[in-house]
Amino acid sequence: MDEGSRMWMVTCTAPVNIAVIKYWGKRDEELILPINSSLSVTLHQDQLKSTTTVAASRDFKEDRIWLNGKEENINHPRLQTCLREIRRLARKRRTSGDGNSNTLSLHHKVHICSVNNFPTAAGLASSAAGYACLVYALAKLHGLEGELSEIARQGSGSACRSMYGGFVQWMMGVKEDGSDSIAQQIEPETHWSELRVLILVVSAEQKPIGSTAGMQTSVKTSPLLKYRTEIVPERMKEMIDAIKRQDFETFGQLTMKDSNQFHATCLDTFPPIIYLNDISKRIINLVHRYNTHFGETRVAYTFDAGPNAVIYVREQHVDEFVEVVKHYFPPEENGEQFLKGLPVNSVSVSEHLKSSIQMDSIKSGIQYIINTQVGPGPQLIQDANLHLLGEDGFPKQ
Ligand code: DP6
Repeated sequence: MDEGSRMWMVTCTAPVNIAVIKYWGKRDEELILPINSSLSVTLHQDQLKSTTTVAASRDFKEDRIWLNGKEENINHPRLQTCLREIRRLARKRRTSGDGNSNTLSLHHKVHICSVNNFPTAAGLASSAAGYACLVYALAKLHGLEGELSEIARQGSGSACRSMYGGFVQWMMGVKEDGSDSIAQQIEPETHWSELRVLILVVSAEQKPIGSTAGMQTSVKTSPLLKYRTEIVPERMKEMIDAIKRQDFETFGQLTMKDSNQFHATCLDTFPPIIYLNDISKRIINLVHRYNTHFGETRVAYTFDAGPNAVIYVREQHVDEFVEVVKHYFPPEENGEQFLKGLPVNSVSVSEHLKSSIQMDSIKSGIQYIINTQVGPGPQLIQDANLHLLGEDGFPKQ
């Protein structure tokens, strides 16, 4: 291929992350700077991931993007920010002389194609994995290494945490330009190998208010959110310590308390924001009754801006807890797989446990469960067959 029509192409994948200390509220809307630090667990890409292919060529007339098979508006401000910041960084590296002379011209337009392997109906924040993947892929295309979470953050706040695997904190930072508001890995994915994550996909009719708009109203109207910013620094320390010591009791309790406080600030917002539904509340009750029965924290819930529960649990308790969930939320017999992801063994639930839980069962309250674990950060895909864009630079199907 002659240099004039050469096309550069890179494909990457990036993970979803679920916060155990929540980010809620910005001090700068443009730069996406938070009012508190947050901490999350990166989920494994075998179960949940975004895949993005980026291509650059002199033949492309304009930057374009396709998301989950549909062309979207490339002029979305946050998308434009990520493109601009990556190009700015590439220019800087090049003029400072540490760029690779074999890299593409910064004037080339890009085609971007991105898909998620999980249904949008799962209600999982796809923007974190999506922006992390976009930024990582664009960086690889330009041969950029090093700190990129500052750019991912400007796509979607929580996306900065998806730039690393394992246990990740997003330090709020103090600088006005946001250069110290970055993500940092606390421990890698190999650190706490028995930790499992169950995503309980709850049946929901309503589409809840999005995080961006929700947190804006909370910042304006919730006095409780101001109080929360005073509490989080200490909670961050305790959480980091619990993770380092693999102390599930403390990890689980802090996770549940922080989720509850986040939803309390949502209710304290005016008009109130209600993400939890009746099924979510029943899951909360079930978890507490289950833990009380055993006299220890065996499972912990957390909820983001929607009704789905994310449950942290250690491997040795997965089978039993899943069986309990199935007992109180019997699945719809429509042939759809109820358990997805890592295998779960069928076990029996003791009458003793059932009598201490004492809850009515609700048929089809939970659509399905995804069983996953802690996973690594973004990955570069070497196999050219897996590119989402064809040789013409357009989506394959
Ligand atoms: C409840 O990162 O989606 O999931 O920065 O406006 O894009 P923007 O918001 P986003 O908010 C995530 C909120 C949350 C908590 C969390 O992930 O920490």
